[in-house]
Amino acid sequence: MKVLITGGAGFIGTYTKDLLKEKGHQVLIVDNLSTGNESNIDDDDTFYKGDIQDLSDLKGIDDIDVVIHLAAQIQVPVSVQDPLFDMDQNIGGTIKVVEFAKKANVKKVIFASSAAVYGDNDQLPIKEESILEPMSPYGISKMAAEKYVEVLCQLYGIDYVILRYANVFGAKQTAKGEGGVIKIFYDLLAEGKTPLIEGNGNQTRDFIYVEDIARAHLYALDTPSGIYNLSTNTEITINELCRYMIVAMGKNTQPEHIDARKGDIYRSCLDNSKFIDASGWAPAYSVEAGINSMINELEHKGVNKS
Ligand SMILES: NC(=O)c1ccc[n+]([C@@H]2O[C@H](COP(=O)([O-])OP(=O)(O)OC[C@H]3O[C@@H](n4cnc5c(N)ncnc54)[C@H](O)[C@@H]3O)[C@@H](O)[C@H]2O)c1
Repeated sequence: MKVLITGGAGFIGTYTKDLLKEKGHQVLIVDNLSTGNESNIDDDDTFYKGDIQDLSDLKGIDDIDVVIHLAAQIQVPVSVQDPLFDMDQNIGGTIKVVEFAKKANVKKVIFASSAAVYGDNDQLPIKEESILEPMSPYGISKMAAEKYVEVLCQLYGIDYVILRYANVFGAKQTAKGEGGVIKIFYDLLAEGKTPLIEGNGNQTRDFIYVEDIARAHLYALDTPSGIYNLSTNTEITINELCRYMIVAMGKNTQPEHIDARKGDIYRSCLDNSKFIDASGWAPAYSVEAGINSMINELEHKGVNKS
């Protein structure tokens, strides 16, 4: 298939385009490199440096079968400081992408949403039909963008798969992103520094390794329209995570606890059974296996550090 990835020079986009290429798909990338890295683009990639707000200005993007829309403003603190910018990028930008998809007769849009749409929900693991109570402008913009994708795609006769990712981690992540804590711990430990844990460390997250996200995109090409959680369905505390990383990296240190971040959710775990049933995908990596693979990639393949 011919697949356009918006945000394809970013963290998740890079693993996704590599896997799609490996599986024989023709991949085009649009990225404005605001947080993406040009070194993620290979010489044989079809790369358009451009903005999702002006897709129709880019010549040569045509006959696309599927758009995987990853480009976004991804930082919760930025969304708090500048909610209008976040809205413009994540809601306005997504509408522009779907409008482009309509004009270009695209058959399917795959949209990167987030567990941030749920907010602090104590009915774990969270199912897709749970109430949405986002606690940040970022969560609101993802929630609204989802609805635009759903309704506009239905109106235009385009298939859509909305994926609510849990916290994604992997070697090419920059420390700024949503699931950044694992990369932050890695960078600190690699430099012989003490990992800092916000609050008492008993808060939990559901981490998913980026290669499982890339594989999920491959499965989503053939998955019926709908909204799906994408997670390992595993709750791990930040204390447990930090302990595991210290051991995996062969360090002899103890984390330090600092003030908890305001507005952070306490527990998070997403039920992934709907996507597993609909697509046949399943996560191949536990959190520990993903961390080991990430460390291996960072230490042996010379991945650029953030
Ligand atoms: N990383 C996570 O844990 C996580 C969790 C949930 C959802 N998501 C979502 O997954 C998607 C990808 O996230 P990521 O972690 O790979 O982030 P990333 O910042 O590495 O990738 C985003 C890419 O989009 C590009 N971009 C941003 N605005 C653009 C614009 N206006 N026009 C063109 N390109 C633009 C950036 O340059 C970057 O390459 C985002 O939509 C994010 O909200 C990520």
